[in-house]
Amino acid sequence: MQITGGAGFVGSHLTDKLMMDGHEVTVVDNFFTGRKRNVEHWIGHENFELINHDVVEPLYIEEFCPLSVLMKPLFILCCLFEMALLLSDGFVEKFWMRGSCVMTLSPAQLREHLVYQGRRVYGSGSQTRAFQYVSDLVNGLVALMNSNVSSPVNLGNPEEHTILEFAQLIKNLVGSGSEIQFLSEAQDDPQKRKPDIRKAKMMLAWEPVVPLEEGLNKAIHYFRKELEYQANNQYIPKPKPARIKKGRTRHN
Ligand SMILES: NC(=O)c1ccc[n+]([C@@H]2O[C@H](COP(=O)([O-])OP(=O)(O)OC[C@H]3O[C@@H](n4cnc5c(N)ncnc54)[C@H](O)[C@@H]3O)[C@@H](O)[C@H]2O)c1
Repeated sequence: MQITGGAGFVGSHLTDKLMMDGHEVTVVDNFFTGRKRNVEHWIGHENFELINHDVVEPLYIEEFCPLSVLMKPLFILCCLFEMALLLSDGFVEKFWMRGSCVMTLSPAQLREHLVYQGRRVYGSGSQTRAFQYVSDLVNGLVALMNSNVSSPVNLGNPEEHTILEFAQLIKNLVGSGSEIQFLSEAQDDPQKRKPDIRKAKMMLAWEPVVPLEEGLNKAIHYFRKELEYQANNQYIPKPKPARIKKGRTRHN
């Protein structure tokens, strides 16, 4: 199976799941936002291959010729803009539609809460979002892959919360004592987000099972470790030795 964008957030979790289930997995990624570190634990495994490639350019490997692609499951998880370019190759369309409309727990927002102690809410915070833990999404993608469905399917968690509720919950879970700061409303911020997953329930017998608080605790744990890793792996340039010009005697 090929996972384009497999070194990203969703893609690397999908890679883990498929590898654990015993599949052969090829990750194609240009590391634009993804990281080798997300999948490096599989490097050297006989079922795993990592290809550093920008999918805007053609990729000439056997598995990617159009005919074999039609027979093999293909996950495309790189950004929407580039997918628009890829869509001009009609054969990719079916696979693109399969991966569309995903919503996951927002890493950016969680990270902000851990780094800046959860103080920022744009507008009144009454806008709603519906967050899904990444393992639910991955299970949904696998269910979609194993089904005959080839039309778009929403994979998300319909449990809707306001951003303010979400901010307060994270603040409590992180144990932050700081006050929430209200910033001016972001332009074009959607006021409501709630996926309709009736089709996924009916056609895939799938629905999310990880409760919000449990998912948040796992994500907080992940981001704490991530921040620790970043703090311990900062690049600090070594001071350069003083240069002495040739032919000159140095007097101290
Ligand atoms: N994470 C979320 O909350 C969320 C919510 C809704 C939709 N989505 C969508 O799901 C998809 C995956 O999201 P994510 O959070 O894993 O994003 P991500 O940025 O972590 O992963 C995208 C991956 O695609 C790779 N990539 C980008 N352009 C590429 C190119 N030209 N060639 C090869 N690889 C390329 C990146 O390096 C990265 O590894 C995206 O389309 C995103 O818009 C994500």
